[in-house]
Amino acid sequence: MRAVICGTGSAVPDKVLDNEELSQMVDTNDEWIRERTGIARRHIAKKDTCVSLAVKAAKSALEQAAIPAEDIDLLIVSTISSNVVLPCTACEVQKEIGAVHAASYDLNAACTGFVLAYQSAQSFLQAGFYRTVLIIGSECLSNLVNWQDRGTCILFGDGAGAAVLRAESGNGYLPAAHSDGKKGVALKCKSFFDGDMENQRFRQEEYKMQMDGQEVFKFAVRQVPAVIMEVLEKNTLALDDIDWMILHQANSRIVEAVSRHLKVPLAKFPMNMQEYGNTSSASIPILLDEMNRDGRLKKGQKIILAGFGAGLTWGASILEW
Ligand code: ACO
Repeated sequence: MRAVICGTGSAVPDKVLDNEELSQMVDTNDEWIRERTGIARRHIAKKDTCVSLAVKAAKSALEQAAIPAEDIDLLIVSTISSNVVLPCTACEVQKEIGAVHAASYDLNAACTGFVLAYQSAQSFLQAGFYRTVLIIGSECLSNLVNWQDRGTCILFGDGAGAAVLRAESGNGYLPAAHSDGKKGVALKCKSFFDGDMENQRFRQEEYKMQMDGQEVFKFAVRQVPAVIMEVLEKNTLALDDIDWMILHQANSRIVEAVSRHLKVPLAKFPMNMQEYGNTSSASIPILLDEMNRDGRLKKGQKIILAGFGAGLTWGASILEW
């Protein structure tokens, strides 16, 4: 059996925060942000939450797939930025869309989360455990961003993307995924309570995202080409066999460096971080949905999805459209 995507959807909050407005909040400017990151604006949740964005993306994917919510056997939400810890985002989405037969859980692997959700769905479908799986990446990173730190607050945005997968006859592709906990310190964020019962107080800095930008940059530029080559070799495919390289949308310079390293034309690396910033696990499915809806994805094309982020985690999957 192989897993096929039969519908995609996405949603972003209405509020747009452009570089100009951001430069009134911290000491930065539009030119610096565009040059270093490729980002021009991002969407920020005011009323929306991880759940509401995920629900909108899920409904749109189900509508496109023409599959009723009751048919979903498994529902996975990848998120690191939910407004609540319990109940998990996936169970809240299940309730809202009426996926009454679904087993539902969250997955926390930051910007690699959607790729790992895809690989989980693929494994369950190919094993014959389930027939229909809904995977969602949903983030309200504005919950975690330190809006006084110009080194990070310029990068992130909020949004959600979803895909419905079904099993079909045929052979699926083997995945590749890795993590390196020893390097986790490069991108971290504490939870609100630290277990010190005598001294539980809110310390602003530690509870917001902290990043060693250059470490993360070097890690991404080294590991993403390597994991792409690994997944190709595992499936005895070559770079030329791939129509689209859909990478996590963290930074245009990372995508450009991967394209140079692999000697694959940049035209095969679609980008939309200029509109949304880095939306962590939502970035790949938002881009996938855009490309699906504007007709860039054609039946039979081969696509690589590649994610990388906190943990550190990274992985890649090949799928046929
Ligand atoms: N505006 C203006 N100046 C700034 C800003 C800003 N927003 N941020 C930093 N600077 C300044 C610094 O203070 C420094 O000034 P100095 O030279 O006077 O000391 C100078 O710009 C250079 O700073 P660096 O931190 O060295 O800038 P760098 O070129 O590394 O760019 C960036 C920073 C954009 C964060 C880069 O390191 C990067 O993109 N890293 C990858 C980060 C990333 O993509 N993370 C997410 C991936 S994982 C995930 O998605 C969860």
